[in-house]
Amino acid sequence: MLLYFSATGNSLAVARQLAEALNEPLMPLVDAAGVDLTNQQRIGLVFPSYDFNLPPAVPAMISGLIISPRSYVFTVVTCGSMAGNCIWTLRRMLREKGIVLAYSHKVSVPDNSALAFGRNPNRQLKKFQYVPARMEQIISELKAGSRTLHYSWFSLLSWLLGRPAVTRGMIHCMGPKVNPAKCTGCGICTRVCPMDNITLQPSAAGNQQTAVTGNNCTVCLACVHACSQQAFTTNGLQTCKERQYRNPQIQLKDLLRR
Ligand SMILES: Cc1cc2nc3c(=O)[nH]c(=O)nc-3n(C[C@H](O)[C@H](O)[C@H](O)COP(=O)(O)O)c2cc1C
Repeated sequence: MLLYFSATGNSLAVARQLAEALNEPLMPLVDAAGVDLTNQQRIGLVFPSYDFNLPPAVPAMISGLIISPRSYVFTVVTCGSMAGNCIWTLRRMLREKGIVLAYSHKVSVPDNSALAFGRNPNRQLKKFQYVPARMEQIISELKAGSRTLHYSWFSLLSWLLGRPAVTRGMIHCMGPKVNPAKCTGCGICTRVCPMDNITLQPSAAGNQQTAVTGNNCTVCLACVHACSQQAFTTNGLQTCKERQYRNPQIQLKDLLRR
């Protein structure tokens, strides 16, 4: 079973390739909490690195997993370049559940937060040239049942960035905001948000609906990248079309939740 969390498709593309190569089913991590997965012999967790750690929403999803200590549990983290403490954090969380993380690796892909920092994730497409070799290595190691944790040194800076107060600050600054003047109320953002954190409500003018964000944002930027009107801002920066990103192997419909 491959469980994934993905906003712009990088992690979904990796999870999908692993699922096909290992002949395993695929499920969004957000749907897996409370599902009995104890009969799964092999469980893979694929998610992005946010601020050198797990995306803020992922720990709760991991806590909700019902998996057997006998399962072979592995993770593959997608990141712009640095997975930071992701694998350390996940390993600790699983250990608290009595589960051993058997294998881990990372795959570097375009950084979808580049938009928030004013850079263009589409200019990073050349990172894909290194992906096939990394995936080939990961697949062959997983097929062999490898018990190897490929990860970077524990970083104090990453640990500090993962503190709840810092995470809250990051969500406050980078959390997407809707520009009602640009929103047409199409509702794509409500369907692409993995946290179900966006709703449509009557606009001030009352003649159409407009998207409104709630308090459960994990700053995945799915809404920012998917909005056809570029109606979201992050860090107060207006989105522009050239900086909207989606993994080239993934279609918008693959990311829609409903
Ligand atoms: C809020 C946020 C923080 C991020 N922080 C990091 C980071 O610390 N290191 C890194 O290499 N990439 C970082 N990224 C980039 C993502 O990890 C990377 O683009 C990932 O593949 C996105 O996965 P997805 O397309 O499945 O959503 C960040 C992305 C976001 C949205």
